[in-house]
Amino acid sequence: MDLGIRGKQALVCGASRGLGLGCATALAEAGVNLIINARSEGNLTKSAEMIAKTYEVDVTIAVGDITDDRERKKVLEMATDIDILVTNAGGPPPGIWQDWEKTDFLRALEANMLTPIALMKKLLPGMIEKGWGRVVNITSQSVKAPIATLGLSNSARAGLTGYVAGTARQVAYSGVTINNLLPGSHSTDRITGLLTVMSKEKGIGVKELRREMEASIPAKRLGTREEFGAACAFLCSVHAGYIVGQNILIDGGAVNVTI
Ligand SMILES: NC(=O)c1ccc[n+]([C@@H]2O[C@H](COP(=O)([O-])OP(=O)(O)OC[C@H]3O[C@@H](n4cnc5c(N)ncnc54)[C@H](OP(=O)(O)O)[C@@H]3O)[C@@H](O)[C@H]2O)c1
Repeated sequence: MDLGIRGKQALVCGASRGLGLGCATALAEAGVNLIINARSEGNLTKSAEMIAKTYEVDVTIAVGDITDDRERKKVLEMATDIDILVTNAGGPPPGIWQDWEKTDFLRALEANMLTPIALMKKLLPGMIEKGWGRVVNITSQSVKAPIATLGLSNSARAGLTGYVAGTARQVAYSGVTINNLLPGSHSTDRITGLLTVMSKEKGIGVKELRREMEASIPAKRLGTREEFGAACAFLCSVHAGYIVGQNILIDGGAVNVTI
């Protein structure tokens, strides 16, 4: 299927590895020129080179912590004329409710709620003016079904979800859509990190924990960044203009709900 977005310009945050890289790669395959962001320059450069060589699109790197006001401003200075925005950053650390202090919540809110909101506030006016735009926020299945050890993530992402629900409907008249993609367990460094923490707590090996995790998912496997990226690219396509303000689970059936 031709996604109809060849020649568009996207900013993809948190895109040197994992789900962000999956989204950037799938957009490049559809002919979209990219600005990709992450904190460490080495991985970001490698990913940019790989994408540019494979898909013959322009790929610019924007190194910086997207959750930091000053560094985000620098990234945004590079991101002029953006048609497609994919927001993403690392998720907050796991823990238990008694441990989290106000500062932990503020950090999580900054990273997983206020940063995507700031990016949208800056880039939506240009999209509205052009009469076309796409925003995809990478959130989490924890929005639909809380993961107790990820209370910081549950809280911050719920805030972003509420903001998107209202804002998506305010801008839809202009041909701009905003939607959230909710990953379940995907095979990325983030999952390996979480499994390593659980392994230490439970005294069970990472491989065994991963097998247990896979067995608990109806699809009996973890998701891949490629299939996640393909869903993102479709949401950014010309065919998805009537999908507005949705929260779409990509979780192999893990969240056991009817709707
Ligand atoms: N993988 C899953 O199963 C899963 C499930 C539910 C939700 N999620 C959520 O989905 C998001 C992506 O997960 P992932 O598995 O792809 O993570 P990942 O494999 O750890 O990759 C994260 C990417 O974001 C970049 N990044 C992290 N913090 C950043 C920051 N402050 N500013 C700019 N770039 C940043 C990383 O590069 P640098 O480190 O170089 O900055 C890397 O490119 C996270 O919010 C995660 O919580 C993931």
